Amino acid sequence: MTENNDPRLLGREVLRIAFDEASIQRRVHALGAEITAAYPDGDLLVLGLLKGSFVFLADLVRHIHRPLHVDFLVASSYGEATVSSGHVNLVYDPETKLAGKHILLVEDIVDSGRTLQKLMDVLQTRGPKSLEICALLDKRIATELKHPVKFAGFDAPSEFLVGYGLDHAEDFRHLPYVASLR
Ligand code: IMP
Ligand code: MG
Repeated sequence: MTENNDPRLLGREVLRIAFDEASIQRRVHALGAEITAAYPDGDLLVLGLLKGSFVFLADLVRHIHRPLHVDFLVASSYGEATVSSGHVNLVYDPETKLAGKHILLVEDIVDSGRTLQKLMDVLQTRGPKSLEICALLDKRIATELKHPVKFAGFDAPSEFLVGYGLDHAEDFRHLPYVASLR
């Protein structure tokens, strides 16, 4: 399938497929194995950052072969723009207790790192046993991120990417691949 005859797009053009479905599935499977090996014991809470992480997280947790719990966080930063405003809003806080647990924060893409840095600071105050980041895509320009991304799917090109959870103005989240936007 070429990107622009995908009926999911219906007139909304994308530039090219950056990561196809099969490559993503292979990588997510491997990440799951890496995460399984990294947490031999303790309580693991996989904390998805909504909405962007929902597809990635759903696939990822099915490849983590140990007990775990899932919860979500809601922050907002971009609105309808394609450039980060630098303003991060925490809209929903997880109800689950974080103290004493391994927390794995799951993010769709790390760009400036502002969103994550702010969340890491907040989460660290709750006394987790460990706190790490797993991101599907890493643009590797995250100068504001003190804490490195421990589990990264792919290095991302510096283009605006959509699909597999990532949106532009809420479009494209349901694509099974990641495409760059014209
Ligand atoms: P940061 O705070 O600049 O690292 O931005 C991170 C958030 O911005 C991500 O969780 C995404 O929701 C969004 N974002 C950053 N880059 C892209 C992109 O290329 N496509 C879609 N969303 C993006
Ligand atoms: Mg977003």
